[in-house]
Amino acid sequence: MVVTGASSGIGLAAAVNFACRGDQVVLVGRDPARLQAAAERVRETSGARPELFRADFAVLDDVRGLAERLRDAYDRIDVLANNAGAIALQPLTTVDGFELSIQANHLAPFLLTNLLADRVGRIVVTASGAHRFGALDPDDLNKPLRGYRPMGAYGTSKQANILFAAEAARRWPHIPTHSFHPGVVRTRFANDSPMVAFGMRFLPFRSPEKGAETLVWLANQDPARLVNGAYHYNRRPRRPYRKAADPRLAARLWEASATAVGIAG
Ligand SMILES: NC(=O)c1ccc[n+]([C@@H]2O[C@H](COP(=O)([O-])OP(=O)(O)OC[C@H]3O[C@@H](n4cnc5c(N)ncnc54)[C@H](OP(=O)(O)O)[C@@H]3O)[C@@H](O)[C@H]2O)c1
Repeated sequence: MVVTGASSGIGLAAAVNFACRGDQVVLVGRDPARLQAAAERVRETSGARPELFRADFAVLDDVRGLAERLRDAYDRIDVLANNAGAIALQPLTTVDGFELSIQANHLAPFLLTNLLADRVGRIVVTASGAHRFGALDPDDLNKPLRGYRPMGAYGTSKQANILFAAEAARRWPHIPTHSFHPGVVRTRFANDSPMVAFGMRFLPFRSPEKGAETLVWLANQDPARLVNGAYHYNRRPRRPYRKAADPRLAARLWEASATAVGIAG
C-alpha cells in the first residue's frame, strides 16, 4: 500500500489502519520530521516499520524521482492512495510553471500514477466535496491564478481529481480506480488560514480515522461490487456535480495533463 500525504491527517490514519490489518505500508510525505513522526505512530500502533519516501509535489522532478525509487523498490503496488493535497492561500506558481493547487493536488499524482501504472493494482483518490467550487479549463490550467480565490483554485484541483479517477478507469479498466470525499475532517488542512479555520469551525468535523474510512474501504472492497471510476462519500457512490461528471472534460483534462507533465497522452 503506497499512501501519499501519509505524514498527517487522513493519509496517516489510513496508513495506520492498513498496517494494523497486516498490509505492508509505504509512507510518502514532504516534510522529513513529520514523515518520521508518522512512521513512529504506525510502528507504535501496529508494530510494523513502514518504508518512507520523501517528495514535494510542487516539484515535478521530485515526483519523477519518487516514481523511480518506488519502481526500484517494489515490483508490485497493490494500492496507490493518491491522498496528498493542500489549499494554497496565495496565488503561487511552481518551479514547473503551474498554479500550486493544480500541480500539487492533480498534476503530481497524475504523473506519479502514470509512471507506476504498469505495477499498480488499484488506485484510490482523495477528492473533495469542494469540487463544486471548481471551474476547470483544460486549455488553461493556470486560469485560477487570475483573480485568485483559494477555494476556487482548490475546488478546481479537486474537480480534476474526480475527472482523473473516472478517465483512469476508462483508460485502464483492469485497474480499479475510485475517488471519494472524506467529509470535513479535523487535520492540519488549511491550518495556516484563520479565515478558513474559522469557517470550518461551523462545519461538523470528523476525526482523521473517520475521514479515512472510505479510503480504506475502497482499498479493500471487492472491485466487482464497486462502480469503476465512481466518486464516493460515506462508503457509497455519490453523483458529483455535473462539471466533475463530464466524460469529454475528463478526456480533455487527461490530454492536457499529459502535455503539462511531458508524457504521452
Ligand atoms: N480535512 C478535510 O476536511 C478535507 C476535506 C476534503 C478533502 N480533503 C483532502 O484530504 C487529503 C488529505 O488532507 P488532510 O485533511 O489529511 O490534511 P493534512 O493533515 O494537511 O495532510 C495533507 C498531507 O498532504 C501532504 N502534502 C501537502 N502538500 C504537499 C506537497 N506539495 N507535496 C507533498 N505532499 C504534500 C502533507 O505533507 P506535509 O506533512 O509535508 O504537509 C500531508 O501529508 C487532501 O487531498 C485534501 O484535499 C480534506
